[in-house]
Amino acid sequence: MSLQTQQALAFTGSTEDKKLLKLVSTEIPKPNSDQLLVKAVAFAANPTDFKHIVFGWGGKDAFVGSDVSGEVVAVGDKVNGFAVGDHVGLFEHGGDPDHPHRGLFKEYSVVNPSLTIRYPSKLKTLGADVTEYPASKVETFEGAAALSLSIFTVGQSFAHSFDLDSDKTKNAGKTVLIWGGSTATGILAIQVAKKAYGLKVVTTASKKHESFLKSLGADAVFDYHDSDVIDQIKKFSGESLVYGYDTVSDEGTWNSVNDALTESAPAIADNLLFLDKSVLKNPKKNVKYTKAIVHLASGEDQQLTDLVITGGQEFVAAHRKFYEKVVPLVLDGTIKHQPLRILHDGLGSAEEALSLLRNNKVSAEKLIFRVSKTE
Ligand SMILES: NC(=O)c1ccc[n+]([C@@H]2O[C@H](COP(=O)([O-])OP(=O)(O)OC[C@H]3O[C@@H](n4cnc5c(N)ncnc54)[C@H](OP(=O)(O)O)[C@@H]3O)[C@@H](O)[C@H]2O)c1
Repeated sequence: MSLQTQQALAFTGSTEDKKLLKLVSTEIPKPNSDQLLVKAVAFAANPTDFKHIVFGWGGKDAFVGSDVSGEVVAVGDKVNGFAVGDHVGLFEHGGDPDHPHRGLFKEYSVVNPSLTIRYPSKLKTLGADVTEYPASKVETFEGAAALSLSIFTVGQSFAHSFDLDSDKTKNAGKTVLIWGGSTATGILAIQVAKKAYGLKVVTTASKKHESFLKSLGADAVFDYHDSDVIDQIKKFSGESLVYGYDTVSDEGTWNSVNDALTESAPAIADNLLFLDKSVLKNPKKNVKYTKAIVHLASGEDQQLTDLVITGGQEFVAAHRKFYEKVVPLVLDGTIKHQPLRILHDGLGSAEEALSLLRNNKVSAEKLIFRVSKTE
């Protein structure tokens, strides 16, 4: 391989389990004046990665991958606040047919600084013998890769959809329901809701995760398998339950979130998979229904097959406001990354990671792999 080329993962075009990805050789890109070039160390897998091909949102040959951490190796002339050698974690819209080069499962990527967290202390790499790692302050490349897309997903929901007041005291007495507290998104949403915004937090998850989610800041954890889970939540929260955050976002969970919310106070319900009011059995007049997509943080329009989601500066402003409030809490360890499960076959682990996500074999953890096999 010459110095100008690199290994990268792209869609094969197949939707068959374990046949989604191919390793290709591609040029190492040069950053524009407003971009960074990042040399990858660790990657995290996300459901959106397999959905882009299985749900038909992405294109054959588009590069895949939405979360990476690594080292900055070049900085565009107009970029402030970053330098060569910085350790960073960031997300991008991988698999996007309109921007097929943006997928991050490659050795080098040009990236948008506004979607990037710079870690002032140097990050470490976990040892080859580590296969599981607990929720911790971000001090490793693996932890930095895990957190990026999830935290800024919460950002679009909390700072744009809910438009939460940055002053914690203004949110006192209000409750948020985070449906799916053990999802990669939910684990961060619980911490952000409690520690950054001062909300009371109720969440749903399998019983086995109760003590972990309480340790992150959940005031109450309800088992979503219980047939009377909505009654339990309503009894606990009453009319204070004014924010509903559906991090699972299927028709069933969207209806459950709606049913649990207050019957009278003004409330907002937000989901992550473009569900609207039409699929609700009992829409409520006091509830505003919203949906969030992390990629709007860039301000650009997003297209998923026939669905066009219009971007704009309001999403960028919400992202900035959230970034300024929450990234300091990540840097000082108040907000921890998710528990990690490390796969050790380098870029070769990506296919396994997407298969595990697709087959619902992931629970309260983020799947991480690195560029090369760990010996
Ligand atoms: N719009 C966006 O920008 C955006 C961004 C990120 C993710 N997403 C979407 O959001 C969803 C979550 O992504 P993720 O990566 O956070 O998920 P994930 O970590 O892959 O989700 C796995 C978790 O889902 C939980 N779960 C499954 N069914 C549930 C139910 N009915 N009620 C409560 N919890 C349930 C499981 O809980 P237990 O193990 O406790 O049973 C498991 O811990 C995906 O559909 C993804 O595509 C959208």
